[in-house]
Amino acid sequence: MTERLNGSSLDWFREMVHYATLAPSGHNTQPWRFGIGEDRIAILPDFTRRLPVVDPDDHALYISLGCALENMMIATEHFGFEAEAEYFPPSEEERLLARFKKTDRHEDEKLFEAIPKRQSNRGRYDGRPIPDGDLQKLAEAAERPGVRFMLFTKPGEIEPLIDFVKEGNLKQFNDKAFVEELVSWIRFSRKDADRSMDGLTSAAMGLPWIPSWMGRMIMRYLVTPGSQAKQSEKLIRSSSALMLFAAERDEKSCWVDVGRAFERTALTATSLGISQAHVNMPCEVLEVRRKLREHIELGDSQPMLLLRIGYAEPRPRSLRRPLEDVLI
Ligand SMILES: Cc1cc2nc3c(=O)[nH]c(=O)nc-3n(C[C@H](O)[C@H](O)[C@H](O)COP(=O)(O)O)c2cc1C
Repeated sequence: MTERLNGSSLDWFREMVHYATLAPSGHNTQPWRFGIGEDRIAILPDFTRRLPVVDPDDHALYISLGCALENMMIATEHFGFEAEAEYFPPSEEERLLARFKKTDRHEDEKLFEAIPKRQSNRGRYDGRPIPDGDLQKLAEAAERPGVRFMLFTKPGEIEPLIDFVKEGNLKQFNDKAFVEELVSWIRFSRKDADRSMDGLTSAAMGLPWIPSWMGRMIMRYLVTPGSQAKQSEKLIRSSSALMLFAAERDEKSCWVDVGRAFERTALTATSLGISQAHVNMPCEVLEVRRKLREHIELGDSQPMLLLRIGYAEPRPRSLRRPLEDVLI
């Protein structure tokens, strides 16, 4: 890696963008574009990749940008640079900016090494408890102003959350628009996946490749809201704990911070051999979000991400578009 520092700054800026694109994003839409400048990289939202049904206010889109920014900041440290992030400067309203300068400080490499290994693992977990010391490390990774983080490890805490997840699942899968939006981002066949290099692939979801027409039929007519809710319940019960990220303010800079806190926590989990997967449904359906907020006494903070964590075998990786597609 060090030789790369001797190349032009364009070379290593491109490398940093590569690491940014390995970030998670809702439905793997990869809703970002990157502009490389002399001493900076700008991250811009790509609104052509919005999810108007499941994410009408774009909070998940900005969380995804926050995840990409956090990867970039961690990669910066690896390359021996220091970065300062600026959110939505007035002259360049829609951008997140990272400005770089050289430093001798070297950060812990564990998070950098975890970037290409991290994945959303939607498989069954083995239920083993996570040692307290590791839970503490996750809580420390999640610390960021404006973000609230909660861990749920006891059955009495997890049970009511399972009910909220199931309620969210039922509401979403009873909504035709939600199912159609989801279907439009599933890449059922290898051909579709290779063509788009985005979306949710059959392989990453632990399913066989099938023709797209067949996949769409199964999703529209055979997958029922009840079967989805039952499946979510089973998967949560196989997990060791749940974790929740909430935004203290319901605005885009705070959503970016939720993304940064989440990504740092996910990378810390990866470095500890802990898997994670979203069970966001109660954060996505506003009516259920309100009940969840009251139940866990979050006050004015908004629950944004709910995840299960635990131990599992790795799954096939999700895809990313090439750099040329995201650079402006
Ligand atoms: C803001 C946000 C919301 C997400 N919501 C869900 C979700 O509701 N259900 C789910 O299974 N995955 C969810 N994901 C995970 C993405 O689907 C996943 O990051 C994407 O498919 C890329 O895969 P990877 O994380 O394995 O790289 C979410 C990710 C982000 C950043």
